Amino acid sequence: MGSAESVLAVIEAGGAHVPSLMDRLEARLAEAAASHGAVLAEHAGSTIAAGGKRLRPLLVFVAAGPTEPDAGLLRAAVAVELIHSATLVHDDVLDAAELRRGRPTVVATAGRAIATATGDLLFSRAFAELAANGRADELRVLSDASSALAEGELLQRADAWDLGVTRERYLARCDLKTARLFQAACELGALEGGGPAELLGRFGRRIGLAFQILDDVLDVSGPAERTGKHRGTDLLDGTVTLPLTIARERGLNALDLRAVRTAAAAEHLCDEIAATGALDAARAEALAMVAEAKADLPRLSDAQRAALELVADGVVDRYA
Ligand code: IPE
Ligand code: IPE
Ligand code: MG
Ligand code: MG
Repeated sequence: MGSAESVLAVIEAGGAHVPSLMDRLEARLAEAAASHGAVLAEHAGSTIAAGGKRLRPLLVFVAAGPTEPDAGLLRAAVAVELIHSATLVHDDVLDAAELRRGRPTVVATAGRAIATATGDLLFSRAFAELAANGRADELRVLSDASSALAEGELLQRADAWDLGVTRERYLARCDLKTARLFQAACELGALEGGGPAELLGRFGRRIGLAFQILDDVLDVSGPAERTGKHRGTDLLDGTVTLPLTIARERGLNALDLRAVRTAAAAEHLCDEIAATGALDAARAEALAMVAEAKADLPRLSDAQRAALELVADGVVDRYA
């Protein structure tokens, strides 16, 4: 989300029960991170304590609609954010990223072995959390999303440095690594709240795709003070994203990404990509996806629709 106000607006539209659920979420996340020894407590704890937008658990709550806030719904939201946290820790290993949420990453601080174990433990805590709901359908939703994430990360490595990667393949990668967890967040909320899980899942998947496009725009635009991540991280690890593809379509000279080796070189290429207008063009593609997702929302209460629409808008109207 772009700002604290937009989250507050969603919370307001989502119902009076949402703020207290978000508070309970924080407490449960902190407990989960502290529960399995000193190493997990330190590294998982610092990842979680560094904050983050908490967009996926918010989606779980909003997708559940005006339901009695119960322990099952809270567990679903906690599980989704724990999966997200696990993937961030692992993703920073794969992407050789140094900064996350404005702080040094686990891999930069403690090395690859500890980052791998921290991510593994966070994954495991997520499933333990959701298992307490005693619902095989919910576990399957989370497991499908987690498998997709792993596939997406591998696809990204497979396509690294390939400037010829097609839009279709790029979108398939974003779908796997990001959109499917947004889908899961909406499905879990709907399963807990008794709403149309499949249709809400489809909504989540579409806004998740738009979310990743925006993330790729922010990787180029920065600034790190806002995003909490270094600018040009994608370029340095060979990840070809929509802004770069559009910039090349607009005449940015063919280049060898492997020659981009320093932070300064990456920032320079970011400036060149931005100068082609590619960032606005990519943003426009994300906006169109969000508009379609909103237009296809199923019949819901006015308040729930308003809350989901606010979240959808926040996915593309953001600077962090
Ligand atoms: C970052 O997600 C990883 C992506 C899928 C792009 P967020 O931008 O939601 O990260 P936090 O939780 O707010 O730090
Ligand atoms: C999202 O892609 C990967 C995950 C699913 C965690 P990125 O690699 O672009 O995410 P950030 O920019 O590191 O947060
Ligand atoms: Mg990354
Ligand atoms: Mg990124």
